[in-house]
Amino acid sequence: MRLLSLSILLLAAPGVEVVAYTLDQVEAQFSSYLKLAENGRLSTRGQLPLGCTLACDFLDFALPSQISYPNSTIYSLEESGYWSQQQALTEPTCRFSPKSALDVSFAVLALQVAQCAFAVKSGGHAAFEGASNIQGGMTIDLANLNEITVRSDRTQTAVGAGNIWYDVYTTLQPMGLTVIGGRVSAIGVGGLTLGGGISFFSGRYGWACDNVNNYEVVLADGSIRETAAAINDAFYYLGVNAPSDPYAQVITAYAYAQSVDTYIIASDLQYGKPVANPPILQNFTAVQGAIASTLRIVDQANLTIEFNNTNPGGFRQTYWTLMVGNNADLMADMVAIYMEEIEPLKTVAGIVPSLVFQPITTDMISHFSKNGGNALGLDDQGPLNLVQIDISWSDIADDNRILTAAQKILDGCQAAASAVGLLNKYVYQNYASAGQDVFSGYGQENLARLKAVSAKYDPAQVFQKLQPGYFKLN
Ligand SMILES: Cc1cc2nc3c(=O)[nH]c(=O)nc-3n(C[C@H](O)[C@H](O)[C@H](O)COP(=O)(O)OP(=O)(O)OC[C@H]3O[C@@H](n4cnc5c(N)ncnc54)[C@H](O)[C@@H]3O)c2cc1C
Ligand SMILES: *[C@@H]1O[C@H](CO)[C@@H](O)[C@H](O)[C@H]1NC(C)=O
Ligand SMILES: *[C@@H]1O[C@H](CO)[C@@H](O)[C@H](O)[C@H]1NC(C)=O
Ligand SMILES: *[C@@H]1O[C@H](CO)[C@@H](O)[C@H](O)[C@H]1NC(C)=O
Ligand SMILES: *[C@@H]1O[C@H](CO)[C@@H](O)[C@H](O)[C@H]1NC(C)=O
Repeated sequence: MRLLSLSILLLAAPGVEVVAYTLDQVEAQFSSYLKLAENGRLSTRGQLPLGCTLACDFLDFALPSQISYPNSTIYSLEESGYWSQQQALTEPTCRFSPKSALDVSFAVLALQVAQCAFAVKSGGHAAFEGASNIQGGMTIDLANLNEITVRSDRTQTAVGAGNIWYDVYTTLQPMGLTVIGGRVSAIGVGGLTLGGGISFFSGRYGWACDNVNNYEVVLADGSIRETAAAINDAFYYLGVNAPSDPYAQVITAYAYAQSVDTYIIASDLQYGKPVANPPILQNFTAVQGAIASTLRIVDQANLTIEFNNTNPGGFRQTYWTLMVGNNADLMADMVAIYMEEIEPLKTVAGIVPSLVFQPITTDMISHFSKNGGNALGLDDQGPLNLVQIDISWSDIADDNRILTAAQKILDGCQAAASAVGLLNKYVYQNYASAGQDVFSGYGQENLARLKAVSAKYDPAQVFQKLQPGYFKLN
């Protein structure tokens, strides 16, 4: 399987400018539209207050068949495309599905003219409310930006930002090609690459964001502490020994299984080439007991389907994260903190609480400096342990208890890591909760650079102010 690099159509990332409309042109079209509408020559959906109703109606007029309204089949289908219930229950005034970068450019200007707040959705897997959907606003759904074109020399592929990784992999697989992308079939190309992007091959090639050549950009103007010790040790030694074999990757998850009222440990053992029981992973496979292991030879597309099946949509979800040094004792301390907070929540309807560890190896980090370097600020560190607190549940009435517990687990883990000098300031955007400060972890210099890029390419700060969801530079 050959790996290629990506070229992705995005909104709001620094890169190449699209030839597009001007604000004046869109303003002129908007006022002509208003006159037509006022003269009754257009059928409108009732009154025209400034804001999102107007922005929706105008776009529906200017770019027919790309706007959907609540209670329509398309709107309902698109709303069901979010992973978390919080996002699926969020109702924008309308949803806009652009067919090209030019459509996106037009819409971003129209949103400014009408002062309508908006959100942007790729794969819809960001967990918290407002990340890629917006109550009462306009959601730009990128699903139709789904081109996948391999360049004739087979070294690059252009991928529309509305694609999910499964479609990318299954298109490339018959050609003997693949890319550095997500590990769950239904994750979107847009969000994963913008936040970082840990792939099955990251030990050898870095994160997805390190393998993007260029973006086409639209500007704005548990009983666990026994087998557990062996697992934690295996995890620690994988971080240490990874440079001897970068094909190996592991996800170790501690979870509470309500149906059997017990804590379990699951290790997803991944090996980036078809070898049975590779030595680098044998400390894991040697551990006997209540361990679910997934080690066997599968193809990448099917593996992402399997991972998708273990992460069903439709539940309430929350993700939190921290980065710590590689240390087995600290892992045991964090598991104890997690279990203490989960104990009183064991009877919450549908609860699946997990504490997940992933080694961030020195090999992975070494790739961060290729292609000009990435802005994440993790260079020259490692091996590290990327910790994720990940809870799903059924009932909205339990939100406060769960979120309070998640915050306490985070605070407790941070304090435990600080106490032994192993807390890293980096906060992985793709696993962060809404209130976590992602960008300061990138470091002063990177943050200043991102702010300068934002000031230069988005002087009116449209993407910082009019698109309120998700993480902001200021
Ligand atoms: C079950 C599951 C498995 C996961 N597995 C992995 C994994 O293997 N590796 C990994 O690194 N991460 C993983 N993650 C984290 C994942 O990368 C993030 O949740 C990511 O943000 C999802 O991207 P998306 O496009 O599906 O989400 P969306 O919710 O559509 O987008 C996330 C954010 O990016 C913005 N955005 C998306 N596209 C664009 C664009 N073109 N222009 C401007 N803004 C855009 C959205 O507005 C939103 O704010 C996983 C998450 C889940 C829920
Ligand atoms: C959608 O339909 C429901 C029930 O049929 C109704 O209560 C609601 O007002 C409708 N929403 C819109 C925006 O038309
Ligand atoms: C397996 O664990 C032992 C310690 O128990 C360690 O010395 C060895 O390096 C580990 N092997 C790998 C491949 O991680
Ligand atoms: C995936 O699994 C299916 C059925 O288990 C199999 O038929 C198929 O060949 C596998 N590979 C791909 C690429 O789908
Ligand atoms: C992912 O799983 C959901 C069920 O939670 C399913 O509806 C969806 O079709 C799956 N998508 C892919 C691409 O496997």
